[in-house]
Amino acid sequence: MINKTIDINMMDEILNKTIATVEDSKEEIFEIAESMRTECDSLQSQLEEMKKKTKDIMLEVVVLEKEEKQSRQSLLKVSKFINKYCEEDIKEAYRKANLAQVKLTIKQREECDMIKHRNDLEIRLSRAGEVLKKADGLTSKIGVALEYLTGNIQDMHNTLGDFQQKRILGQRILLAQEDERKRVAREIHDGPAQTLSNMLIRLEVSCKLMDIDAVKAKRELEELKTIAKGSMKDIRKIIYNLRPMSLDDVGLIPSINRYITSFQQETKICVELIVLSQVEIDDSLLKLTIFRIIQESLNNIRKHSRATNVKIILEKNNAGLALNIRDDGIGFDVSLLGEQQNEDEGFGILSMRERAELLNGDFTILSNSKIGTKIRVFIPHKI
Ligand SMILES: Nc1ncnc2c1ncn2[C@@H]1O[C@H](COP(=O)(O)OP(=O)(O)OP(=O)(O)O)[C@@H](O)[C@H]1O
Ligand SMILES: [Mg+2]
Repeated sequence: MINKTIDINMMDEILNKTIATVEDSKEEIFEIAESMRTECDSLQSQLEEMKKKTKDIMLEVVVLEKEEKQSRQSLLKVSKFINKYCEEDIKEAYRKANLAQVKLTIKQREECDMIKHRNDLEIRLSRAGEVLKKADGLTSKIGVALEYLTGNIQDMHNTLGDFQQKRILGQRILLAQEDERKRVAREIHDGPAQTLSNMLIRLEVSCKLMDIDAVKAKRELEELKTIAKGSMKDIRKIIYNLRPMSLDDVGLIPSINRYITSFQQETKICVELIVLSQVEIDDSLLKLTIFRIIQESLNNIRKHSRATNVKIILEKNNAGLALNIRDDGIGFDVSLLGEQQNEDEGFGILSMRERAELLNGDFTILSNSKIGTKIRVFIPHKI
């Protein structure tokens, strides 16, 4: 058979890898954002410095412009009144004007370079700021996506787990049905079928005996009657085990009482049934659910608990029907129940839960060595 089962562990691995990859990307984008933040800080301080230098150089240029203007005016004066000045004065005026002009030109060039550098820094800072803004946005978007993804993956995982559990439960139900059929067939074969074939033979003998020894024949028939009665009882037991018909015939509480009586006789465990309010239930599925949960709980108590006392409390109120089953046995570690991966392991508790949930109910189980085991089922009234 092709195995179409979803391997939960494999899915888990894939999903966890996906989350890890997205988390890595978030980490990388965060690093980009961080290095952009450092770059912005450094550009910002360079720009501040450059602005200060530019301001200073602009002031220097203003001063040099003034000097240059003065030297030009001095040269103009000397040129206008050339006769009044000696050659040395004229040369000196030219030299000063020329020097002022050169100084001014150099400073102006410096100023121009600085303004250009400052503008470049402003552009770089604004670009880095944009990248930082985007990286910051992306980091938080990835954070949100990751949260969403993790949540979804968790949901998906839960759904898969649920699905897997339901599949296992389905398979076990089929196997249990098969076992049940085999058991019933065996019981009929070993019990009533054997008895009937035996009776047939003895009936034939009795028929022949009728003519020979009527008294003996009558005695034989009386015996056969007793055997037939016994067989009838066996058949009723088989039918009862298949479906507790008494539930519909005599009602839930008498059926539970009947079951408890035979349980106590067989196990010597004392069971007390307390019905806190008038529990009249018409819904036959609800009756069967309560009966089966009590039956499975008592089976578990018989098999695993080593308890001596059991208390079953049934209460119906405005909200619904509450069933509590408590034993004083050795208890067990409930947290290990979910870890059952082995398909051969028991499914009694799983099927009790499933039965309660089918009726929108709650099923809780508490257990440890001190308190024994407590099962609480609550089935709400239908809305
Ligand atoms: N009342 C209890 N006291 C102590 N241990 C319990 C009790 N009920 C259940 N357990 C523990 O819980 C396990 C699971 O119970 P569950 O009814 O699901 O399976 P099972 O009884 O082992 O098998 P199955 O019910 O399919 O025949 C049991 O194997 C047992 O260890
Ligand atoms: Mg069980």
